[in-house]
Amino acid sequence: MTWNVLVTGGAGYIGSHTCVRLLQAGARVTVVDNFDNSCAESLKRVRNIVGEDAGARLTHHEVDCCDKVALDGVFASAGVTFDAVIHFAGLKAVGESVAEPMKYYENNIVSTLVLCETMAKHGCKTIIFSSSATVYGEPASVPCTEDFPTAALNPYGRTKLFIEHILSDLYVSDKEWKVALLRYFNPVGAHESGTLGEDPKGIPNNLMPFVQQVAVGRRPELNVFGNDYPTKDGTGRRDYIHVVDLADGHVAAVKKLTSDPDAGLLTVNLGTGKSTSVLELVAAFEKASGKKIPCKIVDRRAGDAAEVYGATDKAFKVLGWRALRTIEDCCIDQWKWASSNPYGYAGKPDDA
Ligand code: NAD
Ligand code: WQD
Repeated sequence: MTWNVLVTGGAGYIGSHTCVRLLQAGARVTVVDNFDNSCAESLKRVRNIVGEDAGARLTHHEVDCCDKVALDGVFASAGVTFDAVIHFAGLKAVGESVAEPMKYYENNIVSTLVLCETMAKHGCKTIIFSSSATVYGEPASVPCTEDFPTAALNPYGRTKLFIEHILSDLYVSDKEWKVALLRYFNPVGAHESGTLGEDPKGIPNNLMPFVQQVAVGRRPELNVFGNDYPTKDGTGRRDYIHVVDLADGHVAAVKKLTSDPDAGLLTVNLGTGKSTSVLELVAAFEKASGKKIPCKIVDRRAGDAAEVYGATDKAFKVLGWRALRTIEDCCIDQWKWASSNPYGYAGKPDDA
C-alpha cells in the first residue's frame, strides 16, 4: 500500500515503532519532530530495521508543530497530498504537567490547532490522534469501554481530553474530516531487534522503564507504590500493551480511515483487555532478564487507581485489530533493548 503518511513526533517511542510498521506496510512516511524528547538516532535505526529500500521512503524534518510557517513548509514541499496524519507529538510527563501546566497547554494544544489548520489548507483531513486511557480518570469499574464518562486528573490528561473535544468539534463542523481518537493503555516493550525502544530523559515516571534501569544497574531498587490495593497481591494492576502491537493499531487505523468513506469519527481503545500487577510485571521481567529487581514497598502514589484495563471489542470490530503479544513478550523485548542500550540512544555519559 502506498499511503503517504505524515507522522508528528515520529522520532519518539511510539512514533518510531509506528514508522517501522508503516514502512513495512509499504507507506511513504514523513516525520516532523522537534527532538524535544527524542533524537535523530531513532530514525536512523528505523531505517536500519526496515532496510535500504523501505528506509528510502522515510524523510524527516526537525520542525516544531507549533511553528505555523515551518509546518506549512513541510506540507508545501512534500510534493504529495498526505493521505493521513498520525499526531504523536506532545509532552507526556504527568508530574511535569502539574508543575508547568502552561507549557503543556501551549505545546500540546497549539501544536494540534496549527496542525489541523495546516492539514486543511493542504487538502488532508484525515487524522489519527494519540489519546490516552488517562481520559477515563479513575474509572468506576473495569474494563473501560469507550462510552465511559471521561475525566482529567492533571493538566496532561486535560490536554488529551481537550484535544479529543477539539477534533470532535472539527468533525461536527465539517464531515470531510476523518478522525480516530486512539486511547492507549500502558505502552511497554521494544522492537524485537533490540535496537529501538523507550529512552526517557531523567528519572523515569513509568514502571517499565524504571524496572529496566534497575536491571541494568542504573538505579538500586524499585519503589512499589502501595501493596494495600484491593487486588490479588495488593499492588496496582494495569493494561500493558506491547509497543509494536500499538504501532499495528495505527496502521489499522490508517487503513480504516483511508478506505472507508463512512469512517467519520472513531474513538477506540488500544489495550490488551488484561491487567498485570506491579509484582507480576517485576517477576516476568526478572525471568526474561535473569536479573533480580530489588523492590521496596512505599506509600501509594497520589491519583493511582487500583486497576485499569481496557475493553478491546470495539478495536477488533472497527479496526480488525487486537494486541497479540503477551507480558512475557514485552519483557523479553524490553530486555533486548535494555541490555544492548543500557543508556539509551546516546550511550553512557561520562559522569555515569
Ligand atoms: P515521546 O516523548 O517518546 O514522543 C513524542 C515525540 O513528540 C517526541 O519525539 C518529541 O520530541 C516530539 N514532540 C513533542 N512536542 C513536539 C512539537 N511541538 N513539535 C514536534 N515534535 C514534538 O512519547 P511517546 O511515549 O512516544 O508518546 C507519543 C504520544 O502518545 C504522546 O502524545 C503521548 O501523550 C501519547 N501517549 C503516550 C503514552 C505512554 O505511556 N507512552 C500513553 C498514552 C498516550
Ligand atoms: C503503572 C503502575 C503504579 C512506577 C501513566 C500515565 C498515563 C499514561 C500511561 C500517558 C501503577 C506502579 C509505577 C514506579 C510503581 N501515559 N508504579 N513504581 O500511572 O498507569 O499511567 O502512563 O498518557 O496517563 O498516568 O503508569 O507506569 O506510571 O504506573 O509501583 O516507580 O506501576 O503505581 O500501579 P500509569 P505507570
